[in-house]
Amino acid sequence: MSKAAFGIDIGGSGIKGAPVDLKGGALAADRLRIPTPQPSTPDAVADTVAELLGAFDIADDLPVGVTFPAVIQQGVARTAANVDDSWIGTDVDALLTERTGHDVFVVNDADAAGIAEIEFGAGRKVKGVVLVATLGTGVGTALFVDGTLVPNTELGHIPFEGESYERYVADSARERDELDWAAWAERLQGYFSLLEFLINPDLIIVGGGVSKKHKNYLPLLDLRAPIVPAGLRNEAGIIGAAALARKAAKKNAKHAE
Ligand code: BGC
Repeated sequence: MSKAAFGIDIGGSGIKGAPVDLKGGALAADRLRIPTPQPSTPDAVADTVAELLGAFDIADDLPVGVTFPAVIQQGVARTAANVDDSWIGTDVDALLTERTGHDVFVVNDADAAGIAEIEFGAGRKVKGVVLVATLGTGVGTALFVDGTLVPNTELGHIPFEGESYERYVADSARERDELDWAAWAERLQGYFSLLEFLINPDLIIVGGGVSKKHKNYLPLLDLRAPIVPAGLRNEAGIIGAAALARKAAKKNAKHAE
């Protein structure tokens, strides 16, 4: 089996995908981005995912990994914080497999980004507890112990002033409240101090689109653990989803032998 797979990242505003070279952990071609349909119902999103895949000339048996911004258990979405509520209870895996004709593997978006960081990015060869937090429309988290993922941690939803903490610290909150970097960093300080108090990570990796601008806010944070930007920036979701899809395909092939 070749060291290639396709990764798709479903977000609140865009659906992005590209073939991935899993030897180097990098995109193998320019990624394509299509705006997320609104409302982001299962039907509309599945059509967009099929459209995106159709734009690439890929083999029918190329593993396809897809991230989704919700708790995913056995392929089924259990929450829907920043997508249409009708996703709750939807078998995302089955829906996308049927609609695209490819064997799709679905994973929580932050978990996918975390996997990519652990395999190819800022978390490579790091022992101990690593926390990956993605700051975007919401806040996603992925927790690793010696490189092993504890799936579906939802630490962006720790309650804060009667709401989820992500409503206060996500990048979308920075934009909504027109915060300058210092004011946003102050909010992040409170959030990451709380996470540090609760789980004592050895390393914190910050991902999401805003990780590109890390120099504006990470140096303002004062934490015990080192806090670093994601090595793969915003491509981590695509790369992690592709890596997981390839592993799942290999496992299935073995079982079929
Ligand atoms: C969702 C998580 C997701 C995160 C980032 C949160 O609102 O509950 O599942 O990982 O947003 O997209």
